[in-house]
Amino acid sequence: MDETATMNRPQETTLELRGGAKMPAVGLGLWKIPKPQVAGLVEQAVSQGYRHLDCAADYGNEAEVGEGLERVLQAGRCRREELWITSKLWNTYHAAEHVRPAVEKSLQDLRLDYLDLYLIHFPIALRYVPFDERYPPEWIYDPEAPEPRMELASVPIAETWGAMEQLVRDGLVRNIGVCNFNTALLRDLIASATTAPAMLQVELHPYLTQEKLLRFCQQQGIAVTGFSPLGAGSYLPLGMASEDESVLSESVVGEIAAAHGKTAAQVVLRWGVQRGTAVVPKTARPERLAENLDLFDFELSDSEMQSLTNLNRNRRFNDPGVFCESAFGTFCPIYE
Ligand SMILES: NC(=O)c1ccc[n+]([C@@H]2O[C@H](COP(=O)([O-])OP(=O)(O)OC[C@H]3O[C@@H](n4cnc5c(N)ncnc54)[C@H](OP(=O)(O)O)[C@@H]3O)[C@@H](O)[C@H]2O)c1
Repeated sequence: MDETATMNRPQETTLELRGGAKMPAVGLGLWKIPKPQVAGLVEQAVSQGYRHLDCAADYGNEAEVGEGLERVLQAGRCRREELWITSKLWNTYHAAEHVRPAVEKSLQDLRLDYLDLYLIHFPIALRYVPFDERYPPEWIYDPEAPEPRMELASVPIAETWGAMEQLVRDGLVRNIGVCNFNTALLRDLIASATTAPAMLQVELHPYLTQEKLLRFCQQQGIAVTGFSPLGAGSYLPLGMASEDESVLSESVVGEIAAAHGKTAAQVVLRWGVQRGTAVVPKTARPERLAENLDLFDFELSDSEMQSLTNLNRNRRFNDPGVFCESAFGTFCPIYE
């Protein structure tokens, strides 16, 4: 396979997925955006040119995203076909019989009749929690239990993937993929799949560059989206990163930003897009929306790209092998 299959050219604003769909290379991440802000922020984002929203059942705000989407579509600010809406299958719905109800719930909340992309959120199957009992169910099986904790379920990834493939045949989703998979899991998934994943979404920033994973995905024709593309910021309020771990404060980032008349965030996001991945920066601040989208009027030189890549420390902020034990009482490594 052509190793450059999913690589972006510098000024290209979309990524082409297996099957030919074109996904905008920058999307708005919606994790941790407080519900009351979401609908308005979606409206502002679309007005400012965003056409890609990165949602998930687990973010607990899909109904509010749906409200915003309905407003922009009804006002005629763009057409549904111009939008790229991603959502994610939560861990409690991995069993084949729960996959379709899970996407139907997301579609109902988002007020849509199809998704552009549906991703398995984690390679972690958790015990099923009925929709009318708790939604989204999050990680802990029974929060009222004397010792609340995660409860794993035994569901093979191939079973979940088979049900994801059926969603495409049924017209509920256009493209399917996975998040937080390593190369060995991807290889195993591809071996049993009728359709290989079109997308891998993983944590990527200059402190976690994951070159081997990206190279493997290029070889396999799997496009890649980087989550938490700005690094530590998202994890500071969660106690999962410390103040001195901000890649945006690196002097080399500041120097490159000054040389291009751009901000540190734009340089780090541009690095992500220029290495051929999509990025889905989150901001709850309307004044930052335009900044995070404005990445296509400058280009980093090869040496600037390399200096940013050289910042790699293999620092993963979002690691179930760490946070599941500290927050949910269950040791659940997936990368080791
Ligand atoms: N698949 C998965 O397992 C997974 C996991 C994590 C995240 N995601 C997706 O990826 C998206 C992005 O990741 P993330 O939310 O973890 O982190 P992120 O987008 O890398 O960073 C968000 C943080 O950076 C700040 N920020 C945003 N724009 C900025 C700018 N221009 N300058 C300085 N700071 C800025 C935000 O603060 P303000 O809000 O105050 O601007 C927030 O604290 C998520 O929203 C979600 O959609 C997926």
